[in-house]
Amino acid sequence: MSGSAAEGSPRFEPDWRIPTGQGRELGIGIIGAGGIVGYAHLPAYQAAGLRVLAITDVDVAKARDVAARFGIPTVVENADELVRVPGVEIVDIALPPWEQPKIVAIGLAARRHLLCQKPFALDIETARAMVDAAAAAGVKLAVNQQMRWEPGIAAVRSLVAQGAIGRLSNSQVTVSVTTPFGMWPWLAAAPRLEVMYHSVHYQDSLRSIMGEPAWVTSVHGRYPDQAPVVGETRTTTILEYADGSQVLVAVDHQDLHGTPYAEFRLRGTDGALEGTIGLMYDYPDGRIDTLTLRRNGEGPRSFDFGAERWIPDAFLGPMSDLMDAIATGREPVTSGRDNLGTLAVAFATYQSATERRSIRIGDGA
Ligand SMILES: NC(=O)c1ccc[n+]([C@@H]2O[C@H](COP(=O)([O-])OP(=O)(O)OC[C@H]3O[C@@H](n4cnc5c(N)ncnc54)[C@H](O)[C@@H]3O)[C@@H](O)[C@H]2O)c1
Repeated sequence: MSGSAAEGSPRFEPDWRIPTGQGRELGIGIIGAGGIVGYAHLPAYQAAGLRVLAITDVDVAKARDVAARFGIPTVVENADELVRVPGVEIVDIALPPWEQPKIVAIGLAARRHLLCQKPFALDIETARAMVDAAAAAGVKLAVNQQMRWEPGIAAVRSLVAQGAIGRLSNSQVTVSVTTPFGMWPWLAAAPRLEVMYHSVHYQDSLRSIMGEPAWVTSVHGRYPDQAPVVGETRTTTILEYADGSQVLVAVDHQDLHGTPYAEFRLRGTDGALEGTIGLMYDYPDGRIDTLTLRRNGEGPRSFDFGAERWIPDAFLGPMSDLMDAIATGREPVTSGRDNLGTLAVAFATYQSATERRSIRIGDGA
């Protein structure tokens, strides 16, 4: 990793690359041949040489098309057949979240390891039931919260862990973009939208950097002209931590004025980390992230992520981590059990917005 400015903080070097790990030979079967599989899962797996053995979709023609594009040898009619394809040890699920529990049950009955998509579930009881069922079946279940592996966020986590900005005090994630939710009819119809499908990434990534928030306060809004999109398209959330630090997460998906931004600033006692989330400037291609370390009394230092971006590169992260977890017997970093913490924050934002009050995490959110 090279800094673009020679001066300042030479001892802080972010470790942002996805570790190689073990288990990369494990066979993968994919359920769902939609957008995210075609532009993120498969390009990332292909670049890493992972073995995708089979794919299915309720729209079998779609599965055939994706299989042809990525050289996947077997297309089957449904999930029951997919989990029985010889060599499939990991089932990679990429479906709308209400479809996920029944597919998880099929995978667990066949004792396959599972990579679930985010959001893991639409209510905490369903999420807990899937986590408990995976534990009872003795298989690994991970959730595809791949923002944790995207370059800027991975670098921030590494630098914060090294103490590069001291004790965190006051941070912000501010995003103002145009997201054409109407392109996905099921997303347009979702009553809970922005946090459930988007800010859940920020909440999960922040948990990986800062730990669990103690309090959540959130306000949600809709635009008068956002039809056919039903759910909230702008949210403002304050996360407060037991040590008194805070994060503001302010996200607006209906910024139609041509000047998008997706920025973060983490401030600590010894400095600040400022950057941009490249993906949000031009989804799903995106730009390269930027990140600058400003230590108190030192010149700024910027980091270079080469050609690596959130989509598709970070999608190797959760799969590679799950493979290593299977091979070594540890829990995946973004295990289903860990994701209960992310969902607790997400659901707390809805409770806060509905009840117009702050919610203490663990108080039944
Ligand atoms: N960054 C991310 O992690 C990220 C980004 C985009 C989407 N997603 C998630 O990935 C999932 C899929 O999103 P998408 O954008 O690919 O949606 P999509 O609508 O493009 O694709 C979904 C696919 O699932 C298929 N399908 C639905 N029910 C099925 C079933 N029971 N069995 C087999 N196939 C079924 C549909 O035919 C469709 O091809 C969603 O949960 C979404 O939230 C995650």
